[in-house]
Amino acid sequence: MDITKVGVLGCGLMGSGIAQVTATAGFDVTVLEVEQKFLDKGFAGIEKSLAKFAEKGALKETLQVIRTRLHGTTKMHDLADCDLIIEAVIENADEKKKMYAALDGIVKKNAIFASNTSSISITELLTSTKRPERFIGLHFFNPVPLMKLVEVVRTIATAGDVYDTAYEFTKKLDKVPVRTSDKTGFIVNRLLVPYLLDAIRAYEEGVGSIDDIDNAMKLGCGYPMGPFTLLDFVGLDTTYYITHVMYDEFRERRFASPPLLKRMVMAGWYGRKSGKGFYDYSDPANPKPNRL
Ligand code: CAA
Repeated sequence: MDITKVGVLGCGLMGSGIAQVTATAGFDVTVLEVEQKFLDKGFAGIEKSLAKFAEKGALKETLQVIRTRLHGTTKMHDLADCDLIIEAVIENADEKKKMYAALDGIVKKNAIFASNTSSISITELLTSTKRPERFIGLHFFNPVPLMKLVEVVRTIATAGDVYDTAYEFTKKLDKVPVRTSDKTGFIVNRLLVPYLLDAIRAYEEGVGSIDDIDNAMKLGCGYPMGPFTLLDFVGLDTTYYITHVMYDEFRERRFASPPLLKRMVMAGWYGRKSGKGFYDYSDPANPKPNRL
């Protein structure tokens, strides 16, 4: 099956990034949002990111040409002739299922449905459609334009040719796909989440300060960001949500939220996006570790 037209559901951080790399790679992209203001915000982010690539001479085409392939809409019917739908809406299984169920009757029957979820079961999501064999996970990483990885997630119902088409599609985006199956957290979060939670536990136990733990992992292991910088970057609310799904699946302490993470989320400290997390971002260029 040839993919030429791609629909992206959601124009937040992940959806806009996916739309950007897909249009840059030569595909026609239509992004669906509930309100125009969300499209405007997402498209402004795309413009900023594309401008950075253009400055570095990293685009094969002009910005004008890439823009002609990027469309925004608030009407589901505009996605009817897409070959592939990639959903990147809020991490809420019921919300996602509602959207898939509505689109299932609108989008052409042989289109592939994909979810960018990081933790919700792909198998649970596919039950909302009548195309279980054409349903897959495509998990991108933040920031999408820079991060090379895509986890390509197979369920027990996924057809082999659908999997291969989606796998090859990610390569055309200049990404590196890895094969994984529908086990909560896939590969990356299975390993990353316990590490991040352990960093919080180490801090709670007085092993080191926030910036010392960050520096230790950055300089001692060559990680691009220390665990607290990464937690703030991913979002503490997002991480907290993931811990629930993973703990519910595996019932292991390593996936359970430490008390401090829960309290920070209750207090509205979500990390970089809320201006406060393990660091204070009053001066975004110079974050200061908080005393917790
Ligand atoms: N678009 C285009 N260019 C961008 C950009 C964007 N969105 N964001 C940053 N850049 C550019 C910067 O302008 C900068 O360019 P110059 O070198 O010309 O100055 C360059 O990219 C590097 O950026 P920075 O100097 O700001 O920072 P950096 O060198 O630390 O790189 C990073 C940034 C790639 C994000 C790096 O810190 C990194 O890899 N961090 C780890 C990110 C990570 O682990 N992400 C996964 C999170 S987990 C997840 O997403 C899944 C989940 O399920 C929760």
